[in-house]
Amino acid sequence: METFAEKIAKAKDFLPINGTDYIEFYVGNAKQAAHYYKTAFGFQSLAYAGPETGVRDRSSYVLQQGKIRLILTTALQSAHPISEHVKNHGDGVKVLALWVDDAYSAYAETTKRGAKSYMEPKTISDEFGEVRMSGIYTYGETVHMFIERKNYTGPFMPGFRKLTSDYNPVDAGLLYIDHCVGNVGWNRMNDAVKYYEEVMGFVNILSFDDKQINTEYSALMSKVMSNGNGFSKLPINEPAEGKKRSQIEEYLEYYEGEGVQHIAVATKDIVKTVKELKARGVEFLSAPPEAYYDMMLQRVGKIDEEISLLESLGILVDCDEEGYLLQIFTKPVEDRPTLFFEIIQRKGAQSFGAGNFKALFESLEREQELRGNL
Ligand code: FE2
Repeated sequence: METFAEKIAKAKDFLPINGTDYIEFYVGNAKQAAHYYKTAFGFQSLAYAGPETGVRDRSSYVLQQGKIRLILTTALQSAHPISEHVKNHGDGVKVLALWVDDAYSAYAETTKRGAKSYMEPKTISDEFGEVRMSGIYTYGETVHMFIERKNYTGPFMPGFRKLTSDYNPVDAGLLYIDHCVGNVGWNRMNDAVKYYEEVMGFVNILSFDDKQINTEYSALMSKVMSNGNGFSKLPINEPAEGKKRSQIEEYLEYYEGEGVQHIAVATKDIVKTVKELKARGVEFLSAPPEAYYDMMLQRVGKIDEEISLLESLGILVDCDEEGYLLQIFTKPVEDRPTLFFEIIQRKGAQSFGAGNFKALFESLEREQELRGNL
């Protein structure tokens, strides 16, 4: 069987990507959202843009932890595309920004292959140098920005000033973005996959159909897309027919369209990270039944972690040919049942926890049931 590295090597290299540059959320109250991500998830203030820095129409707070940068942005008037976005979707992810070597070429290569333009290439500068950027649409109203910052030494980018705060909660051990998953509508999977293959040169490294991902009630399909060095992994989900409404349908209904379902962030000590996050009020999906942990040794073999400790925290484990991984999922972090986070620790495994899908989805369905949406 082909390894993930061999599959990934087949990706085309017209769009070199160095990783995720930032993820920008459009929210109703950026100041309070920033406080939440600092307090609950252990992010630090990095930069700010708003009226005080000459930006008249919005406030943006940039937070950082490890290599992860989040931007929380709110418009300052109702008649603004950001306000429209929040009105339609609630708080959610607008931008998955990719760190590239050449933002002009990234734009030319992708639009030439059919990408819909979001922002034509431009260069912005200040006393720290210049940042070049461009952007294209992906599923729904979500966009990919291409950010080139090799000639920039400032805290974030021109237009932002460094933000120092007296409030600096300790970090929670979050290191980098492992993957970001999008939900697309009925019969939209093939278009979305084709888009990443043809427009961005990604390859499909893993697929699950509704026979593999199902519970008694609902089903979904999932395909993992990766760029040529594996630094950008963007799985896509589509709902599938089941006896009841799937979590993807619930998402599409409440987000009022396609969008980012979850952001997976990596840690090198999931037990420590999850204890920390729980203590700070992050809510996780309920643990799978005891039987899940009774079967663990048999299913994944010997692991370094103490199983009873994983059980007490509700951490899931899965394995593939290359090793194992530990993961856990938060409840939605918005009032609408839309975006959630995954905490993941990889110990060799390059997959996404397919062996946990059933346990995970049953847990999700218990939550859906409580909301009257199953
Ligand atoms: Fe995931």
